[in-house]
Amino acid sequence: MTQINRNAVAIHAPIISNKRVGQYNQLIIDIGDLSRLCKPGNFVAIKLGGQSSNMILRRAFAISRTSSSATFGGTMELIVAPYGQGSTWLCAQSEGVVLDLILPLGTAFGIPTEPVKVLLVGGGYGSAPLFGLAEVLYARGCRVDMLLGASTGAKIYAPMEGKRSVNSLRIHTEDGSMGQMGRVTDPIGALINDLDIGVIYSCGPMAMLAAIDAITKDSNVLHQCAVEEAMACGVGICMTCVVPVTDGTGAVSMLRSCIDGPVMDGARVAWDKVGKTL
Ligand SMILES: Cc1cc2nc3c(=O)[nH]c(=O)nc-3n(C[C@H](O)[C@H](O)[C@H](O)COP(=O)(O)OP(=O)(O)OC[C@H]3O[C@@H](n4cnc5c(N)ncnc54)[C@H](O)[C@@H]3O)c2cc1C
Ligand code: FES
Repeated sequence: MTQINRNAVAIHAPIISNKRVGQYNQLIIDIGDLSRLCKPGNFVAIKLGGQSSNMILRRAFAISRTSSSATFGGTMELIVAPYGQGSTWLCAQSEGVVLDLILPLGTAFGIPTEPVKVLLVGGGYGSAPLFGLAEVLYARGCRVDMLLGASTGAKIYAPMEGKRSVNSLRIHTEDGSMGQMGRVTDPIGALINDLDIGVIYSCGPMAMLAAIDAITKDSNVLHQCAVEEAMACGVGICMTCVVPVTDGTGAVSMLRSCIDGPVMDGARVAWDKVGKTL
């Protein structure tokens, strides 16, 4: 059995703050010492709707950032887009509400042992795990450039915040309301050459991740992506979250993105088979 999730525990933890930031909510949750076990790329599974909820399935949220030196002890930050029943309930909860959580879950982004030049690419709320990752990579001595994209400017999470731990931040929106008009993937080919990028870290819609893989596949650039496959149990039991992955021989098998991911080697995902039965 995999060692992934060996640190995961179920806890009840209070919300310390919940602020609206553009089209998202930034939640800070007091998770105590567990904050030291959470790594960029890990996620939390949250029971939503309170005690009498009819939402049986937990929802997964990327852990955006953790802090172990805050006034409250260890905290984690989530960036939540109010979308359906569960996320809308979560965004409506105020300070003091106690949440039922399982964390930290899933694989984490690999951090290079030597400083390398990295590009972080986030689509929509997919930028969530990239902020904490940027801080870790920057502290490791890496040059960190970030590209954020969304359909419109209000869906770019805290653009000024993004600048804090990176050498450069570029924003692309499809309607041109913030940054350059176009898709976040448009400048990647040129940036790989101009900035001599060694590793791309990405998180966002599967179509964006597949497009990045198409750009990197004939290059020496490594692509670590956090896949966003729908999850029901979040802990490896139900098989709803499977993603087709190739092994060294080219054979494709379905891996559970909640325990073999969400962070995966982009070059191993069989992007043309995502969402299809083998
Ligand atoms: C690894 C990962 C990280 C994520 N990180 C973030 C994040 O940082 N911020 C963010 O806003 N969102 C994130 N999401 C998306 C989040 O988990 C929810 O899917 C999203 O918030 C919508 O949930 P909802 O309850 O509002 O919508 P709903 O439409 O009610 O539910 C959406 C999801 O709930 C599950 N679900 C609901 N009903 C069923 C059913 N009958 N059968 C099977 N599954 C069902 C499925 O996973 C479905 O995709 C992440 C998802 C994953 C997998
Ligand atoms: S979400 Fe149930 S196995 Fe992955």
